[in-house]
Order: sequence, then C-alpha cells, then structure tokens
Amino acid sequence: MFLPVFNSGVCVFDFENFNNYVGKEKTDLIVESLFNLPEVVGEKNVIDAQGGRSLSTVHLYKSHIIPELLNFKSNPLGLWILNRIAESAVMLGFDKTRNIRKLKYHRTWVNRMYRNCDAVAHRHAVMGSTIPHMVAIYYLEVPENSAELIFIDDNDFSVMRGGRYYEYAENQRYTILPKTGRLVCHDARSLHATSAHLSLLPRTCLIIEVGFPPLK
Ligand SMILES: [Fe+2]
Repeated sequence: MFLPVFNSGVCVFDFENFNNYVGKEKTDLIVESLFNLPEVVGEKNVIDAQGGRSLSTVHLYKSHIIPELLNFKSNPLGLWILNRIAESAVMLGFDKTRNIRKLKYHRTWVNRMYRNCDAVAHRHAVMGSTIPHMVAIYYLEVPENSAELIFIDDNDFSVMRGGRYYEYAENQRYTILPKTGRLVCHDARSLHATSAHLSLLPRTCLIIEVGFPPLK
C-alpha cells in the first residue's frame, strides 16, 4: 500500500506468513546470534538511539550483510521482502530515473530497542548523496506499546539529523504503526524518528538500504 506522506510517500506491506514461513526458526536463530555477538553487546548505543538501551549491527554492515546471512534468495521472507522492495521502487518513482532491476545493497543491519529508547529524527541520505535511494524496514518483533515510526514534515534536505520526535508539532508528524511482519519502504531522504519504546519486551527490526544505478 502506498501512503502519500508530506513531500514523498511511504509503502507499507504485511507479510501474511510472518509467523510460519519455512525457515523462520533458522532466521530467528541467526538474528538472535547477531545480538549476542560480543562486538554488538559491547557497543554503545548508536547516536540516534536515546533514552534507553538499543543494540545494533550497523557498525558491522560491511562484514555482516543481512540478506546474505539470512539467504534472501531462498528464504521465503527474503524473497517476499525483495519483491516488495521492487514494487516500492516503482511506487516511489525510482524506475523513472534508475534501473530498479539492478538493486545494490548499501548498508544492512538489525536493530533492537529496549524500554524508553527512541530514535532521533534522521535521514539516510541528504541532498547530494549518491546512495542510498530507498530504505526498507522489516519488523521482526513488535510487542504492544512499541515505539512508533514517525515521519516528519521537513524540506531542509541538508539536515541529516534533527530533534527528538516530541520536538516537532503534531501536524508535522505522520505516524506509522510497526507490527510484527510489517515492511515499510521509504525514500532515503525522508526525515523520520520513532516515539519512545514503552514495552518491557524488545522491538526488533532489520533495515536494508538500497541503491539503483542510473538508467542507460
Ligand atoms: Fe531510519
């Protein structure tokens, strides 16, 4: 589903078989093993994660490529995500200037948020960035009272990092509710934050930044 959001749009999809696809157990085990890596447990919060603890493999994106670790080309979840990414690239208009068939992963990682953590407003690309073009977020684990994804109306594309979600007026915010099995794809230049994570259980997602070469 395409939702017009401020100056861009956001694509939202729900994976019907999120709880029983073939290979789920193995996928979950691999994700858990990433959060148990000493170089993840021992790493401080990323700069965007404030208010509570978070774990991330973003600093390992060169050595821990999530679509490879999770065998996206044979994993039903991975195939579903890749197909939705292709649809989103068309919905967001990248097919007009880019060869969306030649998707390239930029950074890919997994994130886990704990109670009271929120993500400061940020962009994944600013004016003049060559890549990434699009960001896909797949929610693996979303308990009740999880942090919400909030897009922010802000046209200053030179700003990579903004404020906390509550520093923006309500009419500047567009909230998307994460849920287990949901995929959200957005233009990498869209400013977004999260509200605070209020569950005692963690919220876990995987994030895939993609780029497309120009059309010849
Ligand atoms: Fe983000």
